[in-house]
Amino acid sequence: MDVFEAISSRRSIRRYKSKKVGKKKLMRIIEAGRLAPSATNRQPWHFIVVTDPVIKKKLGESYPKDWFVSAPVIIVACADPSNAWVRADGEEYWKVDVAIAMQNMVLCAKEEGLGTCWIANFDEKIVKEVLGIPSGIRVVAMTPLGYPDEVKGKVHDRKPLEEILHFEHW
Ligand SMILES: Cc1cc2nc3c(=O)[nH]c(=O)nc-3n(C[C@H](O)[C@H](O)[C@H](O)COP(=O)(O)O)c2cc1C
Repeated sequence: MDVFEAISSRRSIRRYKSKKVGKKKLMRIIEAGRLAPSATNRQPWHFIVVTDPVIKKKLGESYPKDWFVSAPVIIVACADPSNAWVRADGEEYWKVDVAIAMQNMVLCAKEEGLGTCWIANFDEKIVKEVLGIPSGIRVVAMTPLGYPDEVKGKVHDRKPLEEILHFEHW
């Protein structure tokens, strides 16, 4: 699968089969995250892989949807803002860095035949408590990871180019 095929066929999956995700596939997906670019190459990310059903259930309290915990794996992408690049005007880039790593993993999962769904609408306090995440670390996003139990078409509902594309000036 080429990169464009992965981009255009990746969809948010909200139904998962219980079939386990093999270690080789899982580690390839994490490696895709590790290889992501980051501002001044600070790599301010940490990834937590959750497969233990008891921990997964507790983690589910941070985002109480049955399909979220039904996936065999949940990946939690965190940032260490104290180790991330900050622009001279104070703009922080840790969220951008971790989002790029996350999207690398999401696309790699697609290539591996696995489904994902970006999750941002979680209770960060609960995630940090359940997973023992240190206070200075931020949780940027989570995704369930598993074999899709729903079939979705290609990406289609996007704004038309003429609404978003500008040449030379706004
Ligand atoms: C940063 C971000 C946060 C998101 N948070 C959630 C979420 O909390 N829950 C959810 O069900 N989907 C979430 N999504 C998925 C979006 O709803 C989805 O990507 C969008 O509707 C487009 O659909 P598609 O991914 O199938 O192309 C999120 C996506 C992104 C990029």
